[in-house]
Order: sequence, then structure tokens, then C-alpha cells
Amino acid sequence: MKLYKAALIIAIAGLLWACGSAPTTNSPANSNATSASSPKPATATPAVDLMAQGRKLYVDNCAACHKEDGKGGKITIEGKSINPDDLTSEKIKAFADDKIYGYIYNGIEDEGMPAFKDDLTEAEIREVVRYMRAEIQKMPEAGPKASPK
Ligand code: HEC
Repeated sequence: MKLYKAALIIAIAGLLWACGSAPTTNSPANSNATSASSPKPATATPAVDLMAQGRKLYVDNCAACHKEDGKGGKITIEGKSINPDDLTSEKIKAFADDKIYGYIYNGIEDEGMPAFKDDLTEAEIREVVRYMRAEIQKMPEAGPKASPK
């Protein structure tokens, strides 16, 4: 009687093991399928990095006069009293990207806005404009993309 019970238990255990092992042979295929569809974070990184570069360029080259938030206002720099524009104003929001590019490139010497043509590359000026659009002026359509020609 005891022997019969033991045999039954072994038989049931064997059956359970057989059933239990079936899904485990499938699981490697399943995990391959999920890992194959996950390269999304890699494509998001460059856009974030581009904005970080524009932010750094702005902070390094523009924020001393126009302030970190772009609001500008009267300041005295090297003994000269100047009035940097509020970059968040409706007037400057309405400027085309290329017009803003031109102001940065050529400056407005008489008014104390320096020219950056010798300090920044064309690509760097574009980055600053893009940063200005997206984060200073908070224009929703100004994502990390090239300006239309
Ligand atoms: C030394 C101070 C100084 C620095 C640095 C500076 N600006 Fe200016 N900026 C000015 C002043 C002053 C004006 C106002 C000129 C005027 O009254 O016509 C101005 C004007 C502007 C204008 C508007 C022009 C207009 O006609 O309204 C833009 C756009 C601008 N600056 C962008 C920038 C950007 C972007 C940077 C950094 C790459 C920068 N500025 C760096 C002082 C500065």
C-alpha cells in the first residue's frame, strides 16, 4: 500500500515536471522578442544633447547681458550702460530664425550687442537660435529641427 502511494506521487511529480518544463523551453524565444523592440531610448538621446549644447552656448555667450531667462534689461558692462533686448518679447518672437541669426552673426555694434561671427561657428549660432526658440521664447513649434529656408 505504501509502495503504491509512493509510486503515485512519483508519477504525479513526473507529470508536473513535464508540464512545468514546457513553458521554460519557450521563454528564451519570448525574451528575444521583447529585447529586439527596445532601441527607442537611443534615438531620443541626440535631440536632448543638441538642446544641451544650445543651452551651454547661450549661458556662456548671451546670458551675461540677456540674462538666463532672456528677459534682458539695463546693465553696465565694462563701464558702458547698455539695454539688452527682452528676447521673450513679441517683437523678437515674430523675427524669422534667419533674422535672429543675422543679429547674432553681425551684432549691433552701436548699441552694445557684440558680433559673434568670429567666436561662434554657423552651426553654433543655429544651436543658440534653436535654444532661444524652444526654451527662452517657449515656442512650441520650435522643436530641435532645422529652420526652414
Ligand atoms: C555684451 C552684452 C550682450 C551680449 C553678450 C549679447 N547681447 Fe544680444 N543684445 C545686446 C544689446 C545691448 C541689444 C540691444 C541692441 C539694440 O538696442 O538695438 C541686444 C540685442 C539682441 C537681439 C535683438 C535685436 C533687435 O533688433 O531687437 C537679439 C536677438 C540678441 N541680442 C541675441 C543675442 C544672443 C543670442 C546672444 C548670444 C549669442 C547675445 N545677444 C549676446 C547685448 C548683448
